[in-house]
Amino acid sequence: MGFWDGKVVLITGGTRGIGLALAEGIAPSNASLILTARSKEELEKVSSSLPVSIDNLFLFPADVSDDDSVKRLMVETFNKFGRIDIVINNAGVGLRGKVCDINPDDLERAFKVNLFGPLNMVQQTIPIFKMQGQGTIVNICSLGAVRPVPNIGGYSASKAALMSLMQTARLELQPLGIKVINVFPGSAKTGFRDNALGVSYPENEPRLSRVSPDLVASRIISGIEGGKNNIFITWPDKAMAFISGAWPGLADKLVFWAFRRKKG
Ligand SMILES: NC(=O)c1ccc[n+]([C@@H]2O[C@H](COP(=O)([O-])OP(=O)(O)OC[C@H]3O[C@@H](n4cnc5c(N)ncnc54)[C@H](OP(=O)(O)O)[C@@H]3O)[C@@H](O)[C@H]2O)c1
Repeated sequence: MGFWDGKVVLITGGTRGIGLALAEGIAPSNASLILTARSKEELEKVSSSLPVSIDNLFLFPADVSDDDSVKRLMVETFNKFGRIDIVINNAGVGLRGKVCDINPDDLERAFKVNLFGPLNMVQQTIPIFKMQGQGTIVNICSLGAVRPVPNIGGYSASKAALMSLMQTARLELQPLGIKVINVFPGSAKTGFRDNALGVSYPENEPRLSRVSPDLVASRIISGIEGGKNNIFITWPDKAMAFISGAWPGLADKLVFWAFRRKKG
């Protein structure tokens, strides 16, 4: 029996980008999937393309930043499957702009989706996991949480807060048999930039690498299987995170140099 066989897996933001790639990566392995996103139409589109039986798929339109819809999502999921094994907090929104220009309403929305969304999900999930005596929470943070770069300060702050919150949750929940995993993707080729708040992302902005959502999903899937606490997608991302922790001054210089060089 494989790792995912018979598991009940809930993915927020499962209709596009990394969330969809995760659903596609997990679907063939006989897991039950619960996908949520705000758009009902996009959820329905996804259902026809996933290789999963109708009994093993549950689509629930919900906004993770809305407590009531998250409560209904968790109640209906538990009623349908009788258990939940893995919750992947993937739904998120970008926010681009210099710190001096950030619109406070945009920053509030980014925190609502990127921090309070996962918090809502986790607070509804923990009683179920406690009752089961097991469960895994996966949070899609961002490399920006550990190595902020210019123009994404508001977004990075929301993801750094998520990282920190969930590091604490890991310590609190480990004794109860509940695992908490943080994921730190660098740049992935999804519609994320087009959907971001604030000013638009220039295509030529410096980045360590730009990978496919399928690669991100496959690293997340193997990291979950391997029981990792923290998942990085590429070795340059991991190296940058290490340098940022060990030599923050050097990391600042590298980022400053990359952005100055790109400007020409
Ligand atoms: N792409 C990157 O370069 C990158 C890098 C680092 C980290 N990340 C993180 O990875 C995650 C996925 O990003 P992505 O690139 O796949 O983004 P994406 O292509 O824009 O997809 C976002 C998904 O989240 C859903 N969503 C957005 N807001 C939501 C809300 N309030 N409630 C419920 N669902 C919501 C969207 O569906 P609806 O619009 O229908 O709700 C969609 O399914 C995010 O947390 C992002 O911060 C991405």
